[in-house]
Amino acid sequence: MSTALITGPTAGIGHSFATQLAARGHDLVLVARNTDRLEEVAAELRASYDVEVEVLTADLVDSAQLATVEARLADRERPIDLLVNNAGFGLKERFLVNEVEAEHAMLDVLVTAVLRLTHAALGPMTERGHGGVINVSSVAAFLPRGTYAAAKAWVNSFSEWAANEYRSQGVTVMSLCPGFTKTEFHERMDVTRGTGFMWLDADFLVKKALEDFDKGRVFSIPGAQYKAVVGLTRLIPTSALQRLQSIGRK
Ligand SMILES: NC(=O)c1ccc[n+]([C@@H]2O[C@H](COP(=O)([O-])OP(=O)(O)OC[C@H]3O[C@@H](n4cnc5c(N)ncnc54)[C@H](OP(=O)(O)O)[C@@H]3O)[C@@H](O)[C@H]2O)c1
Repeated sequence: MSTALITGPTAGIGHSFATQLAARGHDLVLVARNTDRLEEVAAELRASYDVEVEVLTADLVDSAQLATVEARLADRERPIDLLVNNAGFGLKERFLVNEVEAEHAMLDVLVTAVLRLTHAALGPMTERGHGGVINVSSVAAFLPRGTYAAAKAWVNSFSEWAANEYRSQGVTVMSLCPGFTKTEFHERMDVTRGTGFMWLDADFLVKKALEDFDKGRVFSIPGAQYKAVVGLTRLIPTSALQRLQSIGRK
């Protein structure tokens, strides 16, 4: 039986990953800040699927707590076969309105945690000759739109490089780029969640992502509407894309 470690599995996209991976028979290690919610999800998954679920409470902004997750990934006695770097959040205000500490905390979760956890996981995975990493990025990564998009652009670049670097050692790395998805993400930012065809269902998103991962794809962009958006960003001149950045958050 293989084991997957998922960050941010108590809500939204991470919760869908936890459910769909448990349904595929993976044992799980669930990482987030709220222990009660983690225990609740763990109990729900143990009851519904014949899998073992371990709970690891950690705030990925805190380097000592992040180190406990790195140690779990590096534990060769209890191998992790799949790492899903999913935890994340956005900030409501524009760059100069946000406290720089809030910007730094976002960078810690979106970039530093992804780098450190992938580093911890890849050692044992390459030694064993198999493993996988799914990094949850965003369609925003393709647009010049503030520090959130910049962090996600790092995730794409890092994942694309790692996918090619470690493929020959049996490790599959994929960047999942969701468009707007119905989760707690916007609620936590205190902004109204939209409706309509641009809003993806998290279960659909994760189903498509796992299909892409099974095929060994480097990028997963679920939804025809978002494949079209990303296609357009490659056709529109950079100077025109840069003008779009003045709309909304910077
Ligand atoms: N929803 C969208 O429209 C959308 C679009 C593109 C990309 N994404 C990306 O998708 C990923 C998942 O987002 P979501 O929409 O599913 O968000 P969500 O519903 O708000 O869930 C976020 C999860 O991350 C955990 N988390 C947040 N901060 C954390 C921290 N400091 N340490 C550990 N865990 C933390 C939360 O649990 P605790 O609060 O208990 O820690 C929760 O389980 C993120 O990387 C996000 O950037 C989302």
